[in-house]
This record gives sequence, C-alpha cells and structure tokens, in this order.
Amino acid sequence: MTRLALDSGATNLAQGFPDFPAPEVLKRAASDAIAADINQYSITWGAKPFRDAIAAKYRATYGMDIDPEREITVCCGATEGMIASLLAVMDPGDEIVLFEPFYENYNPDAQLCGATARYVTLHAPDWRFDPDELRRAFTARTKAIILNTPNNPTGKVFTRAELEYIAELCREFDTLAITDEIYEHITYDGAVHIPIMSLPGMRERSVLVNSMSKTYSVTGWRVGWVLAPPDLTDSIRKVHDFLTVGAAAPLQQAGVVALRLGSDYYSQLAAGYVTRRDHIVESLQRAGLRPFSPRGAYYVIADISASHFSKDVDFVRNLVRNIGVAAVPGSSFYSQSGKGSQYVRFCFCKKYETLDRARQQLEKLSSDTRM
Ligand SMILES: Cc1ncc(COP(=O)(O)O)c(C=O)c1O
Repeated sequence: MTRLALDSGATNLAQGFPDFPAPEVLKRAASDAIAADINQYSITWGAKPFRDAIAAKYRATYGMDIDPEREITVCCGATEGMIASLLAVMDPGDEIVLFEPFYENYNPDAQLCGATARYVTLHAPDWRFDPDELRRAFTARTKAIILNTPNNPTGKVFTRAELEYIAELCREFDTLAITDEIYEHITYDGAVHIPIMSLPGMRERSVLVNSMSKTYSVTGWRVGWVLAPPDLTDSIRKVHDFLTVGAAAPLQQAGVVALRLGSDYYSQLAAGYVTRRDHIVESLQRAGLRPFSPRGAYYVIADISASHFSKDVDFVRNLVRNIGVAAVPGSSFYSQSGKGSQYVRFCFCKKYETLDRARQQLEKLSSDTRM
C-alpha cells in the first residue's frame, strides 16, 4: 500500500510510521555518537550502556528486575526480536496460539519455524476473546502464545483480568508467552499497559519483545530488545548473532538517552496521539464508515460494510486511486481468505496537516457511500 500511495501521490495512512520529525534530543544524541566514533560493532547482544538503560527503565516503570548481563538481547527492531525468539524456542511441529486479527509478521514468523498456528478471534467492537475458545486452542503441543498489547491492528489493550487468564493457561499447559509490547506507552482513556512477564509465576515463562521504533518515533533506526530468562536468552542470543550480528552501535548509544527520558515524554506522546485518534475517528464517521475507537497503539479499524464495495481490497483500491488515501485491507490481518473483508485499517501517527488532508479527501467518500 505504501508503494501504491507513492505511485499515486495518495495520503499514506497505511504503514505505521510517523511523518513528523523524530525528537531533536535523539537526533543530536545519534549524531554525537557517530562523531564520537561509536561506529564499530558493539557486543553482539547489545552495548552494555544500552542494556543497563533498558534494565533501569523496566525497574522504574514496572518494578521489574532484569539482569542486563543475562536477560537482555538487543536486536534490529522488534521484527528481529520476534523471529529470533521464535526460532530459538519453537521446533517444527510445535503449536503456537495467535489472536486474530494479528500483526502481519506473526503468521510468516510461525511458518519460518515450521510451527502450526492456532487462531483465536478478537471480536469487535471491543475486541474481546471468548475464554473457552482460547482454552480450546491450547493443546499438549502448544509451545507459545503471541500476545501483542497494546494491539495492532485493533488498538485493544489487554486487561489485567485477561492477562491473568492467559497466564493461568500458560502455567497449566507449560507454555511461553511471547509478547510484543512495542506500543506500551501509547494508551488512551485510562487504559494501562501491563507486561504479562510482571504477573506472578510468569517471569520464567515470558519473552518480552520491544523496540525504540514507536515509543521514540524512530522506526528507521531498527533498534529493539528481547527480555527473557537466562536459559532462553542464551538461545535467543545465538540466533540473533547469526541473523544480524548486532544493531547499529551509534543508535544504541542514542538509545541510552531515549530510555532515560522522564515520564513527561511518555505522557506527551500519548496525549499527542489521543487528539489524533479523535481527529481520524471523526473523519471516518463523517465519511460514512464505522470506526472502532482504539484504546491503544495508533491504528483504527473501520467497518466498511455500509459502503458499496463489499470487499476490503476493492475498497482500498478505490480509496487509493480515486479518493487519494492509502489504507490496509482488513483481510491481511486474518489467516483465512474472506475473513476481515468488512474491515479496513487506517493509521494516525501523522502530522495534523496530513490528517486534515485525509479528512478532506475522505469527504469524497461520503458521496460514494450508501448508508
Ligand atoms: C505490533 C508490531 N510489532 C512490531 C512492529 C515492527 O517493529 P520494529 O520497527 O521494531 O521492527 C510493528 C510495526 O508496525 C508493529 O505494529
């Protein structure tokens, strides 16, 4: 969709990257690190000052004690963190539980490991799961469940009660919780992010994947990390070493500055996104669609059933070519063709002028839409 948006000059609300500048203090820290000649390989599992900063941040934010020497692997974004973790822990034939709609990478990640995915549906409008359906997805062969909270594409923030239920299943079936917490600081309406790793009995069976991409608006830096117990970290570090050797050394140094930013930074980040969320939700409503307002992350799913395009792919093709806005067809977040085709995902990590332009363009849709 990003390529189509570039070809047709459309407003890109498809891919999740900010079109506004990264924080000045981080750009300066990165160029200072290059000038100070931090330009060679760092230790493969991450520069010590960066691992120390990660451990300090988890202590300050969640009261979690993470050993930077034995429990942290720095990698090239959450993308590498997830596949390195899965390759380290999954064997061919193992089963993995995924909530759907899911972030597109998890399915191919599972396939690369030879794992069999079992899907559990998140139901609109609030994207709840059926506890019995989740229980039925767990079997004696379930090695892991992937949990992305706050969630892309739905914006769901899993509640403590939901996490406790998932944790109970993980303990009962001796299963790992592999979490993608890349939107941890982007929550709205009082929703609180809780790492499942911080729940009782979950420390030894959780692998937490995170990254600088979304929290610090630097998706192009490709710096992320994995927290895991020492035995799992040993394996994850080996896979990581052979996949990529290491993340960019000067950007890890700038990461030290990022992870030491005060709580104001994070509250301003969420405050900036909540007004953008309200802006796009209103635009989509005015255009005759039915958006499900998210409680976290920076995407909104809209139900397009009222439009005269019954299929998401036809809808987004028309949207990009004739209306001038790029978005992602909902079916790309589901395992079976046909599922999710009443949904389209819009991303709102954009400048207000971009969101204003999208609003004007989307207005053309309301004359197109049959309510
Ligand atoms: C849920 C989720 N995980 C991971 C990523 C990619 O993370 P990174 O840029 O750190 O590789 C994204 C990007 O959109 C995402 O939405």
